[in-house]
Amino acid sequence: MTNYPVNMDVRPDVSAHFDPATNTISYIVKDPDSTHCAVIDSVMDIDYAAGRITQGHADALIEEIRSRGLTLDWIIETHVHADHLSAAPYIQEQLGGKIGIGADIVTVQETFGKVFNEGTEFQRDGSQFDRLFRDGDTYEVGGMACLAMHTPGHTPACMTHVMGDAAFVGDTLFMPDGGSARADFPGGDAGVLYDSIQKVLALPDAMRLFMCHDYGPNGRDIAWETTVGEEKANNIHVGGGTTREAFVKMRTERDKTLDVPKLILPSLQVNMRAGELPRDPDGHPVLKVPVNGI
Ligand SMILES: [Fe+2]
Repeated sequence: MTNYPVNMDVRPDVSAHFDPATNTISYIVKDPDSTHCAVIDSVMDIDYAAGRITQGHADALIEEIRSRGLTLDWIIETHVHADHLSAAPYIQEQLGGKIGIGADIVTVQETFGKVFNEGTEFQRDGSQFDRLFRDGDTYEVGGMACLAMHTPGHTPACMTHVMGDAAFVGDTLFMPDGGSARADFPGGDAGVLYDSIQKVLALPDAMRLFMCHDYGPNGRDIAWETTVGEEKANNIHVGGGTTREAFVKMRTERDKTLDVPKLILPSLQVNMRAGELPRDPDGHPVLKVPVNGI
């Protein structure tokens, strides 16, 4: 049983947008009793080899919000993603809304501010975001009460956002046959991730869970929605009462075999700035490649 205040009687409308380039799922979540909505984990397109940024994925979200006549209240980042770039500022410019992330973004900014040798103009206080969520914080989408749960382990700033009977878990969990996300990035911790997953699994069994990523393991079609009950019973990494010790051993061994995400360098530089591109002294957008930096 969870100690967080949840209301399973509120059933938001959830529209999913899958990005095949990064296997990310972005969501438009609509309050069932008004025309207000939130966007969760948007994606900005990048051709990294060419240094070219485009906004096809975000434009599709914007187009859907406009055509349905919705008002955008929030643009939520579940965490600082290392595998895709956020389009939050681009969406905010066109539709408004507040950009929010976990308060421990400051830890991530401190770590990667050093890695990318950022100057003093790069603030490490989270001020690039409109709202920094702490565990148990509440906010509203229209009249729908929403809740931020701190679920660190994959990164220090990871949050799970609960809106009615739907929870957006970021990279805390994958689909039952996908298991869990890696915990070997700076600030990651497999034991802490296990504890966070237990917080999610303590939510009601019927709670709908929405993933940030899916890779279609074993050739199955891409999927992004499951339930707490399903994960508890069948998740290949934590289902069926796996112990903390067994999870940490599995996760640590598995993480050693994983490649560095292709877009980690541009993703971190952009996402730790709430989706803004870094700029050179002349004001031109530019991305760094620190050699042997991570
Ligand atoms: Fe992630």
